[in-house]
Amino acid sequence: MKVVRISVPPDKSISHRAVMLASISEGNTLIKNLLMGDDVLRTMAAFRAMGVTIRRKGKDVLVRGVGMHGLKEPAKPLYLGNSGTTMRILPGILAGQDFRALLKGDASLSKRPMKRIVEPLKKMGVKISGSGKRGGYPPLKIKGGRVKPVKYKSKIASAQVKSCVLLAGLFADGVTGVKEPVKSRDHTERMLKLFGCKVKVQGCKASMRGPVRLASPGKIEIPADTSSAAFFMVAACILSGMKIVLKNLGLNPTRTGVIDILKEMGADIQIKRKSRGLQPKGDVIVASSRLCGITISPKEVVRAIDEIPIIMVAACFAKGVTTIRGIKELRVKETDRIVSMVTNLRRMGADIKVKGDILKVGGLRLLHGAKVESFGDHRTAMSMLTAGIAIKGNVRVTGLSCINKSFPGFQKLLRKLN
Ligand code: S3P
Repeated sequence: MKVVRISVPPDKSISHRAVMLASISEGNTLIKNLLMGDDVLRTMAAFRAMGVTIRRKGKDVLVRGVGMHGLKEPAKPLYLGNSGTTMRILPGILAGQDFRALLKGDASLSKRPMKRIVEPLKKMGVKISGSGKRGGYPPLKIKGGRVKPVKYKSKIASAQVKSCVLLAGLFADGVTGVKEPVKSRDHTERMLKLFGCKVKVQGCKASMRGPVRLASPGKIEIPADTSSAAFFMVAACILSGMKIVLKNLGLNPTRTGVIDILKEMGADIQIKRKSRGLQPKGDVIVASSRLCGITISPKEVVRAIDEIPIIMVAACFAKGVTTIRGIKELRVKETDRIVSMVTNLRRMGADIKVKGDILKVGGLRLLHGAKVESFGDHRTAMSMLTAGIAIKGNVRVTGLSCINKSFPGFQKLLRKLN
């Protein structure tokens, strides 16, 4: 048995929120182990452009908070690159700033739906408009100022929508609440608590009373990203004679769907040194496993929304059919992940059927080498590279620079498994 220790990069979702909340809080925040991936660098650049001092100290950064109303009008449009999280969450903070801003993205981000945040912000009295068909896409124009509280019932389970509304609610006078059909990742709620905001969470509802002044907790430490670790969890399962040790992973229950799904598929996974608290984390040890096909419900998809591409790879190596229900949101990620993954895996000989909102992956087909594409999507690229190390043939993936979005150095770590 080969035992490999892998340190995956810090969590992308938590890193964005740490920079954002530290910037608008009172006091200095040392963010330890911040992800230096392309998207978080965009978030840092946006806050620097609004007058926040952010100093890098190796893997850590020091943010000098300017307070809730201390941001300055940016001199130029804020260019957010490929970062959907910044494009959807930042408007919540801009809602409370008495200035105009224009948020732009790259070609892929400009095709991602923004109506989901424009609609609730308009209900809160914010002057915001999008571009393209029915004004539902970036660039976003926003003029902040007065914000009204809202009780918003979201049709989709989305942490980005929930976060945007809650952040705008910080500036409103009264109770702002968001209800979603299934509970999405709750990093914003947890981090708001860390900055002294009394967020009330009851099942799929989160609310708080504004206006709020955030106070820096002084220091935040970002755990390793569970979504990035998922590639190595699946690699361990599908390679023979392999054990992978993943240290200090974030184990927030709204993010650990992939562990539960792989366990249900028969994966040999152990969790050690688990700590609880606002930022649960622990070590995850995964060994070669005989996987079997299962049915994944729409609720489970929400808890593993970014891991479905690599779960599709796992399903190709499992005995029997894996059915994934409720895949609609995967169509509006960095790319249409159903199209990108199905096209690529079929090129390798996989047996996959898509009907409406349901995907079926036939298992234990002998996959072969192929030339496939990232489609500019980091998770598609990493899923295909992972599939490539477990088969006999050669898988060539084109367009790998997108991996820097969340996992700089991925290929080097993957080579450790050879
Ligand atoms: C994220 C939420 C998820 C996820 C994305 C990051 C976040 O998106 O897919 O990678 O940090 O809030 P949705 O909120 O659209 O589901």
